[in-house]
Amino acid sequence: MREIIEIDFREVNSSDMMLLYEWANDPITRAMSFNTTIISKTEHEKWFEKSLHSKNLYLFIIEINELNLPVGLIRIDEEGLLGISIDKQFRGLGLGSEILKKFIKYIKINNYIPKIEKIIALIKSENKASIVSFERAGFVEKGYSYFKGQACLNYHYSLR
Ligand SMILES: CC(C)(COP(=O)(O)OP(=O)(O)OC[C@H]1O[C@@H](n2cnc3c(N)ncnc32)[C@H](O)[C@@H]1OP(=O)(O)O)[C@@H](O)C(=O)NCCC(=O)NCCS
Repeated sequence: MREIIEIDFREVNSSDMMLLYEWANDPITRAMSFNTTIISKTEHEKWFEKSLHSKNLYLFIIEINELNLPVGLIRIDEEGLLGISIDKQFRGLGLGSEILKKFIKYIKINNYIPKIEKIIALIKSENKASIVSFERAGFVEKGYSYFKGQACLNYHYSLR
């Protein structure tokens, strides 16, 4: 399946607010985040407005095939911290690692965040699907650290 899927990215725009709200409150996504509480619509709206105009954070919709079907979100900040979530209907296909590989090429080609030397992912140790996806995409484990008071595995991808 993954061989025949075309993956592309586009920047998030104002029409994506509700889609991102739905994805943000997906139970697995919340459980694998560092803030596990359900996000209210007001909270989301505030975050979305701020993020849309932020110069430090880049949000991309992951699209597949010629239908430009939105299947997930990738975020990366100016320090190279990356987060990914895939719509629950498209999980379990091994798309995560293919998306990450393609995204690394995409940010290089489009010269997004030229100053960062590495991409960083902070992953809860129980998030096996994520660990496998990042490892397959070439990220290297750099041990544990604490983020928002919680232990997490650090994965790095060197861009130099
Ligand atoms: C993380 C995420 C992007 C991975 O997406 P995915 O590509 O659909 O992942 P898959 O379910 O296909 O799993 C990838 C691989 O991990 C393996 N895997 C999954 N759960 C596993 C487990 N408990 N133990 C061992 N391997 C496991 C799968 O078998 C698969 O390998 P295979 O292709 O050889 O079968 C997706 O699960 C997601 O969006 N999760 C919610 C948000 C999230 O956790 N984001 C990451 C935060 S760091």
